Amino acid sequence: MTRYTLGMLGIPKIQSPQGKNKLSSIAILTSGGDAPGMNAAIRAVVRTALANNVKVFGVYKGYSGLLEGQIFPMTASSVGNIIQRGGTVLKTDRCEAFFQKSVRREAAHILTRKGIGGLIVIGGDGSFTGAHLLEKETGFPCIGVPGTIDNDIAGTDDTIGFDTAVNTAIEAIDRIRDTASSHDRIFLVEVMGAQSGFIALYTGVGGGAEIVYVPEAPLTLDQMKKVIERGMKRGKGSSIIVVAEGPKPGLAQDLSKGLSKSGYRPKVCILGHTQRGGTPSAHDRLLASALGSAAVGYLLQGKSNAMVGVQANEVRLIPFSKVIGKKKVLSPNLKDLVQTLSS
Ligand code: F6P
Repeated sequence: MTRYTLGMLGIPKIQSPQGKNKLSSIAILTSGGDAPGMNAAIRAVVRTALANNVKVFGVYKGYSGLLEGQIFPMTASSVGNIIQRGGTVLKTDRCEAFFQKSVRREAAHILTRKGIGGLIVIGGDGSFTGAHLLEKETGFPCIGVPGTIDNDIAGTDDTIGFDTAVNTAIEAIDRIRDTASSHDRIFLVEVMGAQSGFIALYTGVGGGAEIVYVPEAPLTLDQMKKVIERGMKRGKGSSIIVVAEGPKPGLAQDLSKGLSKSGYRPKVCILGHTQRGGTPSAHDRLLASALGSAAVGYLLQGKSNAMVGVQANEVRLIPFSKVIGKKKVLSPNLKDLVQTLSS
């Protein structure tokens, strides 16, 4: 089996079956929230497939576009000049209808009627659930490429878009810190991550935050006040508290109200969708290129019902059954590091 590592960018040597088992056409779609680097992954899929004499169809607007038949052939030039662009040129969607079995069966028919023999889905856990069920129920081969700023997909150390989102958030925090220290203020900076605190934790460590609040291990107001007081005792006038948005909207505002009752005057800054847009970082482009290319490679080798991911800097194929619905755990060491470095 070919093993792809991040050091093996370029087009991998793919040993695909010849003759009647050879896949002649594949399709690609992006699904769920967009993430910087998705375009680099689309480019890698298209160019790797074409280099192996496989036709590629792009599907507009995720599973919704698939059901509407918004499927068109892609060429090497359809993906020219996109590696540096954020968002997804294929557009994306969160498709409720795809939860229905009958709808997934229809999707398989639509693809098969076009002569398409495999589907690459770039997205997150929900998008992979759709792909997994599609394959399980209809036998239509699917491979997932992890693309989400949240980095909350089990089985892969990294997801496309996470690095860019963290860099965007850290840049914002650097700016906020200037004004926070000038005014001796406390700032609550809310970052994305409804179910997971990866963005918050990495941003907190990289941005030098005093406190990081994550849904996996929420802090009490008293714990937060203790850290603020400890800083004040050694002359700190300002504090940055990074808050993951969590499942319920308005968390940073609620925490701000709680702190205000103790006499603090915190300011709230919600970074929101600024973290989803923008030029992908070099890291995300490399990751996307490696994973997109490997996804085609595995599909051509007859592998499917799985995600391409990175483990210890190696690209691997991980069965959907070991990915979907599984919780990816935040490093406790990194959580401790926030405390140690802010003390
Ligand atoms: O794509 C992941 C994510 O950005 C989460 O961090 C966030 O909770 C959610 O999507 C927001 O989704 P939407 O753009 O649909 O509001």
